Formats: sequence, structure tokens, C-alpha cells
Amino acid sequence: MPPKFQTHRLEFPPELAGRRLDQALATLLPQYSRTRIQRWIEDGAVRVNGLAPRARDVVVGGEAATVEARLHLADFLRHALRLTGTHVGCEHGVCGACNVMIDGRSARSCLTLAVQADGVNVETIEGLTERNAIVELQREFVARNALQCGYCTPGVLVTVAELLVRGKPSRAQIREALSGNYCRCTGYHAIVDAIEAVAARHLDAKP
Ligand code: FES
Ligand code: FES
Repeated sequence: MPPKFQTHRLEFPPELAGRRLDQALATLLPQYSRTRIQRWIEDGAVRVNGLAPRARDVVVGGEAATVEARLHLADFLRHALRLTGTHVGCEHGVCGACNVMIDGRSARSCLTLAVQADGVNVETIEGLTERNAIVELQREFVARNALQCGYCTPGVLVTVAELLVRGKPSRAQIREALSGNYCRCTGYHAIVDAIEAVAARHLDAKP
């Protein structure tokens, strides 16, 4: 007689999007050990759309997705995770529109393969916004008209978020940091003014 299995249908909540399948399952099913969850996956007991995923697949849109080896991180964020705040301009590391934070450092997501981001902390413009890390910059950009079409703006804000963590930059240092971000329509004057104003207000106040 074949063994009987209980079948459970699991829905992955949106906050688990982007997590590895084994980690997402451990969060959803805390009553089971990681070892047991790994074994389920290895044995093919976990099925997604009728297929047996691997532990290192990631949860996307409520399901586990396989990341193609050649997919770059920008496309993965935009198309698989629907995080469209990360923009794609040149796709060869020149314009900075695709900048995201990888383990706290700004990096080109068009030059990073999605599989290289396995196990690291990727933060996009959406993440920085949600945790209010750049709210002052965003307000100052609006107040000073430091954007027109806004295509470059997420990448610029990611660059500047990293810059300001390091301390108060001079105007020359702000310009140098922005040399890796192309803005085709605003011109850099208002952008530099906005960054300088935020740096002066907040970093001058720090002991
Ligand atoms: S799209 Fe990545 S640097 Fe231009
Ligand atoms: S605001 Fe349009 S490219 Fe910068």
C-alpha cells in the first residue's frame, strides 16, 4: 500500500518575496526544524506549480522562482519582484540609474547577477523609502526641483544615502560621488544644492 501524505497548501505573504525558499518555509512553519524542511525540499515533497523547487530558489509573488544563471539583478528586481524603482539606463555600468545597496554599499544592479545576491542584503529605493532612510533627501529634492523626469533619481538617492552615512561631504565630494550618476535633464546644480542642504542640517547637528 503506498504511503499516505497529508497535503497542505501554503501561501507566501508578500513580505517573504525575495527570500530563499528554505528560509521562507522556516518562517512560515516555525514548528518544524530547518533540517526537516531541507529534507522535504530535497525529497521533492514541496511542490510549486507542480514542480519540485530547490532550497536556493527564491520566493517571488507568493511562489518559489528559479533564478536563471544569466539574469542580472536589475531585471530580477524589476520583473520578478516588481520593484520597479530600480531603473535601467545603459545596462553596462555607466549611468548609475540601476544603483541599489548591497550590504550597505551602493552597487550597479545591471552588472550584478541575481545569483550573486544570494545571501547578501539587497536594499532598493523602495526599501530605503519604507524605512525613512532618505525622507529628508526626498523632501529637499522636491523643494529644490532637483529632478525633472526622475529617471536618474532613485540611483542618485542610493548613491547619496551611502555618501551621507560616511559623514558630511564637501560640495566637491558630493560632485565627485555623483560622477557615477548621469542626469540627462535636470542639471546637477539643484541636485548638489539639495544634498548639501540635507548634509548641513543633519550632519552639522551630530556631535
Ligand atoms: S543601467 Fe546600470 S549603470 Fe546604467
Ligand atoms: S531627472 Fe531626468 S535624468 Fe535626471
